Amino acid sequence: MSAISDRLKNVSISASAAMTQRARELAANGIKVISLSSGEPDFPTPAHAIEAAHVAALAGDTKYPPMDGTPALKAAIIRKFKRDNNLDYDASQIVVSGGGKQVIFNAMLATCNPGDEVVIPTPSWVSYADIVKFAGGVPVAVPCHEQTGFKLRPEDLEAAITPRTKWLFLNFPNNPTGAACSRAEMASIAEVMLRHPNVWIMTDDIYEHLVYDDFQFCTIAEVEPRLYERVLTMNGVSKAYAMTGWRLGFCAGPKELISAVSNVNGQNGGGIATLTQAAATAALDGPQDLLKERAAIYKERRDFVLDRLSEVEGLRCHRPDGAFYLYPNMSGLIGKTSKGGRKIETDVDFVMALVDEHHVATVQGAAYGMSPFFRISYATSMEKLGEGCARIAQFCRDMC
Ligand SMILES: Cc1ncc(COP(=O)(O)O)c(C=O)c1O
Repeated sequence: MSAISDRLKNVSISASAAMTQRARELAANGIKVISLSSGEPDFPTPAHAIEAAHVAALAGDTKYPPMDGTPALKAAIIRKFKRDNNLDYDASQIVVSGGGKQVIFNAMLATCNPGDEVVIPTPSWVSYADIVKFAGGVPVAVPCHEQTGFKLRPEDLEAAITPRTKWLFLNFPNNPTGAACSRAEMASIAEVMLRHPNVWIMTDDIYEHLVYDDFQFCTIAEVEPRLYERVLTMNGVSKAYAMTGWRLGFCAGPKELISAVSNVNGQNGGGIATLTQAAATAALDGPQDLLKERAAIYKERRDFVLDRLSEVEGLRCHRPDGAFYLYPNMSGLIGKTSKGGRKIETDVDFVMALVDEHHVATVQGAAYGMSPFFRISYATSMEKLGEGCARIAQFCRDMC
């Protein structure tokens, strides 16, 4: 009899993690791999956040934490929601978890009954569907097409909602497309949701601060206050403050829901590392100028990669408003053969041949639920981006 639960059998290993692993294997063999697969800022954690963790450790802040977050961090999160999103919450409406990922995991475990449907605008972050399945729910993909800027169209959302729908997930700026949602677009999504009072909304705002060309981020609970009682607003410090390794995410929402999420939090971790909470408090309360400074750098990188790739025959690249990803369409290369003799039938063939022959790691669109595309993360140096783009261009040029 297998030791593995049925629950786990439906859950796959993240494709971006698998590609990062492939790149590491090649690197271990002495090959210089350009890794454009990882969704991780290449900047350091702000020094004042590191300092705060150090001070907390020396001061003896090393005991079990409260299950839902320290009072100091919750207060900083409340200030953050007011400052950035004009949303009011009190401490009983906040839970802190081990990364945004754990927030979503806990929320789904706390709320999904077998067969509950979760509407996921797609392309989408690889983990959403797996987390939903893990919790017994059924992911329902709503396509957000390239022709409409990978945005969620209200009519497509409306069509996806059934009497079994429990949740709608929103993630704009989006991983993997970088598509963002204007206030008017968010208002039309909200209008659909007002017609469906039994559906909850989880908004993953982790890329909130990564928007370019004066794009104004907005979040649904603020755009439509009548939805406030049905929205779980999720955010974290990983992407904005380059704190991926510290593992801290948080969410805010109606008390009853938050108390259920907190209950799961207590069972599967018992609260988040005290030093991480001290660092996150300092990041959220400290100087915020670095957000704009870093966004300006990401924007330069986006423009650079867009320019390079739009010259490549066979690729078509949408201009994203946020996050740090590009999602080029590679349909123009389907049916061709790489210089190394690989027939390119799918985006999986494309990214595998690219990493093996030209040593550039990217991720296939299939992993995000929409083909034929591939995801490039530009959260890396200009030097690596230049080399990566040159190799991609060569790889495509060499196909016949
Ligand atoms: C859309 C999205 N949400 C959540 C996360 C997870 O963030 P965290 O590091 O806080 O778990 C990621 C990470 O790649 C992401 O892309």
